[in-house]
Amino acid sequence: MITGTGITKTFRQRGHVLGGQTVQALRGVDFAIPKGGAASFIGESGCGKTTLGRIIAGLESWDAGEITIDGAAMSPLKPKARQPYFRRIQMIHQDPYSALNPTRTIHQTLHAPLKLRARQTGRSAAWVEERAAEVLTLVGLDPGAVLGRYPHQLSGGMRQRVVIARALTVDPEMLVADEAVSMIDVSLRLGILGLLKDLRERLGVSVLFITHDVATARYIGDDGELYVIYRGQVVEHGRVDTVISEPVHPYTQALLSAIPVLHGLEEPGAQPVVPAGGPEAAVDDAGCLFAARCPFRTERCLAERPTLQVTAGVPQEHACFHPERRSVVARPLAEV
Ligand SMILES: Nc1ncnc2c1ncn2[C@@H]1O[C@H](COP(=O)(O)OP(=O)(O)OP(=O)(O)O)[C@@H](O)[C@H]1O
Ligand SMILES: [Mg+2]
Repeated sequence: MITGTGITKTFRQRGHVLGGQTVQALRGVDFAIPKGGAASFIGESGCGKTTLGRIIAGLESWDAGEITIDGAAMSPLKPKARQPYFRRIQMIHQDPYSALNPTRTIHQTLHAPLKLRARQTGRSAAWVEERAAEVLTLVGLDPGAVLGRYPHQLSGGMRQRVVIARALTVDPEMLVADEAVSMIDVSLRLGILGLLKDLRERLGVSVLFITHDVATARYIGDDGELYVIYRGQVVEHGRVDTVISEPVHPYTQALLSAIPVLHGLEEPGAQPVVPAGGPEAAVDDAGCLFAARCPFRTERCLAERPTLQVTAGVPQEHACFHPERRSVVARPLAEV
C-alpha cells in the first residue's frame, strides 16, 4: 500500500523571463493505492500529474506532507534508506524512444539490472539469462527475436514493451505509467493498456496510470480509483466507473464532455459545459481554483477554497461547494 498525505510541491522557475517566479505544482494532495490496485491521475497539461508520479516513484522530492510505502514513512529516512522502498515502484517513461539507450541491445538493457539483482541475491548467470527471457515473454515479446536487437530495430509498441520488461526485472510492486501510450500509434495503445491490465491481474502489480484522457483511465480497470487533478489539487476522487457515470465536479464534467467528441459520438448541438480558458485563468487564488472557468460559481466560490469532502447524497469525494448543481453531462457508463 502506498499513501500520500498533504503532498505539496513548489517549483522555482529558472531563466530570464520566469526567473524567480514560483509554480505551486501540488497543493496538499492525498491518495492511497492498495497493493494490486489500480489508480489513475487525470487532468489537463500542467496540473501536476507527472510531478506527483515522479514523487511517488522516488524521482522527485516534495516540500511537505508524507509518503508511506507499506506503512513506512519516507520523510524521516535518509535518501539511501528510501531506495529499497522506492525501488519497488517503477516508472515507465512517456517516450519509449528516449527511455532506451540506442547503443545497447535489448540483451544489454535487461542484463544490467538483472546482473545487479543476481549479485545482491546470490543467483547465477544462468538465472540472469532465464529471467531476461521470462520478462520479455511476460510482456508478449519473443525473446529469441528481440534480445539481439537495438531499440531502433523495433517498432514503437515493441520498444514500449521492452521498457515495461525492464521495469519488471526488479519485481516491482507498482508500475507508474505516465502517458505510456501517448507516444505510440493509436492502434498499439490498446495492446499496451491491455498488457498493463494483464500484468496487474497475473502478477498482482499495482498500476498507477497518468493521463489526460478519461477513456484511457477506464482501460486499467473499472474498479480502479480515479483522481481528478486541477492546478495541483485533487478536485474529485472515487471509483473510475462511478466518477464517469456521475461526475460531481464541474471540471470532471468538462473532461467527460470531451469524450464523445473523441469517439465521434457527440450529440448534435452538445456544447462543452465549461468555458475555454487555460489553468492560468484564475480569478483569485483565495477562492476555488476552478472559479474562473466555472459556470456554477457563486460569491462563496470566489472567496473560499473548497477542500475534498464527502457530502450526503453525492457519490464521491469532491472539492466543490455546489455538488447539487451537477448532472449537466452525466450519462450512462455504456455510452462513454
Ligand atoms: N523541474 C521543474 N522546474 C520548474 N517547474 C516545473 C518543473 N517540473 C514541473 N514544473 C511545473 O509544475 C507544473 C506541473 O507540471 P507537471 O509536469 O507535473 O504537469 P503535468 O500534469 O504532468 O502536465 P502534462 O500533461 O503536460 O504532462 C507545471 O506548471 C510545470 O511547468
Ligand atoms: Mg506530464
